[in-house]
Amino acid sequence: MIFAAILAGGSGSRMGATTLPKQFLPLGGIPVLIHTLEPFLRISQIDAVFVLTPPEWIDYTREQLRLHLPDAAVDVTAGGATRNDTLLCAIRYVCERYPVDEETILLTHDAVRPFVTDEMIAENIAAVREDGACDTVIPATDTIVRSTDGAFIADIPPRSELYQGQTPQSFRLLELRRTVESLTREETETLTDACKIYTVRGKKVRLVAGSPSNMKITYAEDLPLAEAILAAREASR
Ligand code: CTP
Repeated sequence: MIFAAILAGGSGSRMGATTLPKQFLPLGGIPVLIHTLEPFLRISQIDAVFVLTPPEWIDYTREQLRLHLPDAAVDVTAGGATRNDTLLCAIRYVCERYPVDEETILLTHDAVRPFVTDEMIAENIAAVREDGACDTVIPATDTIVRSTDGAFIADIPPRSELYQGQTPQSFRLLELRRTVESLTREETETLTDACKIYTVRGKKVRLVAGSPSNMKITYAEDLPLAEAILAAREASR
C-alpha cells in the first residue's frame, strides 16, 4: 500500500504575525493546504492521504476539507512539536491503522509546498520501489559557501555536486521506522531531516527531480511569489 502524509504541524513562525498558520492562508482564495492535497488525491496508486496538524487546528482543518474537498477521504491527525516528531506521528498513524509490510510506502510532503506535481509524486513512488528511499531536489543555483565560524569561508564545495532539498521525501515505511527508532537522543535533536538520517546510517537515498516552482512558503514575501506561480499555472491550463 502507498500512503501520503502531508506535514502541516508547524506554526509558521517565520511568516510573522498572521491569524492562521501559513498552511491555511489563502492562495488564489483557497487554503495553501488544499492546493497541496489535490495532486496526491488525483494519483490512483495512493491508497490513503492524511494530514498532520497542530492538535488545536484539527477541527479547523476538517472544516476546510469539508468545504473545499467535500468528496475526498482525507483523515486529519495530530502532528508533533518538531517536524521530526510529526514524521514519527505519521509513521505511527499508518502502523496503528493498516496492515503494513516491507513493501508499504510512505510519501511525506510539506503542506506549504503547494506546487508539487503529479510527475514528482509518480517519480517518488517509482524511486522508492526501486531503491527504498528518495528525496526531491533541484540543482543548486547559487554558489554555496561553507563556514564553520560564521566569519570566514571554510570551503566552497563544487556547485555541480550540490542540490537543494525539497519534498516529497519518500520511504519504505518499515525501514524508515527502524532507522528513526535507531537514533540516539542526541541524534534525534540534531538530525532534523529524514533523508539525512538515512545518509548518516549509510543508507542510499535516490534523487528525484523537483522544480524551482515546488517552492516552500516560509516568509511573508513568498506568498506573492506563490500567487504569481499559481496564476501562471492557471493561464497555461
Ligand atoms: N511541520 C510539521 N510539524 C512541525 C513543524 C513543521 O509538520 N512540528 C511542517 C510544516 O507545517 C511545514 C513543513 O513541516 O509544512 C516545513 O516546515 P517549515 O517551513 O519550517 O514550517 P514551520 O515550522 O511551520 O515554520 P517556521 O519554522 O517558520 O515556524
